[in-house]
Amino acid sequence: MSGDFVKVAESREIGMSSMKGVEVDGEKICVINTEGNYYAIGNVCTHVGGPLDEGTLEGFEVECPWHGSKFDIRTGEPTKPPATTAVSKYEVKIDGNNILVRKQQ
Ligand code: FES
Repeated sequence: MSGDFVKVAESREIGMSSMKGVEVDGEKICVINTEGNYYAIGNVCTHVGGPLDEGTLEGFEVECPWHGSKFDIRTGEPTKPPATTAVSKYEVKIDGNNILVRKQQ
C-alpha cells in the first residue's frame, strides 16, 4: 500500500528544467521540474550510488554524474548502462506552491 503525500519543496525552489535532492524518512528522492511538470524518482543511482540530482537533465532523462547511466524520469527505468536496475518512482502532487511526494510506505 502507498503512503501519505508529504511536502518536499516549494515550487519556487525548483526552477524550470532543474532538479533538487530531498529526503523523506531516510529515502533520498530527486524531484525534477521539466517544462513545468514535476516528477520524482530515487536519487541514488542503481549502479554504484551516484547522486542523480547532481547529474544532467535532458528532456525526460537524467544522466548520472558518475558514469553516465541514464534514467527515464517518468518510469525510473534505466535507458543507458552501466545501470541496469530501475530507481524508485514516486507520485507527485502540486498543492498551491507546495510540491508533495507520496511516500513508498
Ligand atoms: S553511479 Fe551512476 S552510472 Fe555509476
